[in-house]
Amino acid sequence: RLPIIIDTDPGIDDAMMLTLAFANDDVLDIRLVTTCAGNIPQAKTNYNARAFLSYIGADVEVARGLEQPIFRELEVAEDIHGESGFGNVSFPDPTLPISERPAISAMLDTIMNSKEKITIVATGPLTNIAALLLAHPEVKSNIQQISWMGGAAVGGNMSPFAEFNAYVDPHAVEIVFRSGIPIVMSGLDVTHKAYVTPAEAKRILEIRTAFAEKSYQLVTFYLDAIKKTPFDEENYDQVLHFHDVCAVKYLLKPELFRGKDYYVKVSLEGITSGATVVDYRNRMEKEPNVHVLHSVQREAFVEAFMKAVKHISDK
Ligand code: BDR
Ligand code: CA
Repeated sequence: RLPIIIDTDPGIDDAMMLTLAFANDDVLDIRLVTTCAGNIPQAKTNYNARAFLSYIGADVEVARGLEQPIFRELEVAEDIHGESGFGNVSFPDPTLPISERPAISAMLDTIMNSKEKITIVATGPLTNIAALLLAHPEVKSNIQQISWMGGAAVGGNMSPFAEFNAYVDPHAVEIVFRSGIPIVMSGLDVTHKAYVTPAEAKRILEIRTAFAEKSYQLVTFYLDAIKKTPFDEENYDQVLHFHDVCAVKYLLKPELFRGKDYYVKVSLEGITSGATVVDYRNRMEKEPNVHVLHSVQREAFVEAFMKAVKHISDK
């Protein structure tokens, strides 16, 4: 099994990502979940991660990460995920406790004590990972790769140039991108192609379990929220983008995705702040530091998600 740590800010699509990951725990050895501040503040992402994982019967340590980005004030995405982070869907109080170890210590121990190199899946702002690398650079040699949902080669969703996770903590992205660790970026370029139509989403209900129903409600809240955003590009506001799910799906089936290695630098200031600038033509003459994904076989992706909801329901 592939040993992984998941760093996340649930968040609706983060919950969908956790669904896919834990449905595939025969392939993924999920050693630790850490929460970052992003879609909502840290206390809530940690609570949500524990509530969701308790609900699906996962047995995993959930550690609490940093409260604020490295340099910026936290900006959240309550307009998309609701004030609670899970829209109008509620889960019973968590049975999984908050880990006694803070996220950075838990990640350090998990990485350094592992015989095999650890892969990190990150689906929120990269604050925790950047802090880990700054405080304990020795971890780099035992990290296989970082599969991150964030960034965009072309066009943002938070500003004209910046994707949300990169926008919230651009300094963290820059620290991680400079680390020398292999990075796979599932940015908006690919995640906007990893969409589910409302008709496809309805199929979740055919699974007829309480979990399937909750998944459908989450997905519907998310779709309605996106519909309210004043944006009208192709089918943007009529489909669901399963952004975070890509970061896990890539580990399970990289052959579904296409991408290329590029040098990527993050803009830290001004109107482009948080933009992940991809040097397509190698004008900066730097070594590539990021594998940038740009497309995915959508249908296979949707099927995998449906299967995951079914699998978790049957567990
Ligand atoms: C990213 O922003 C968050 O709102 C989502 O959870 C996802 O990680 C998409 O831009
Ligand atoms: Ca997220």
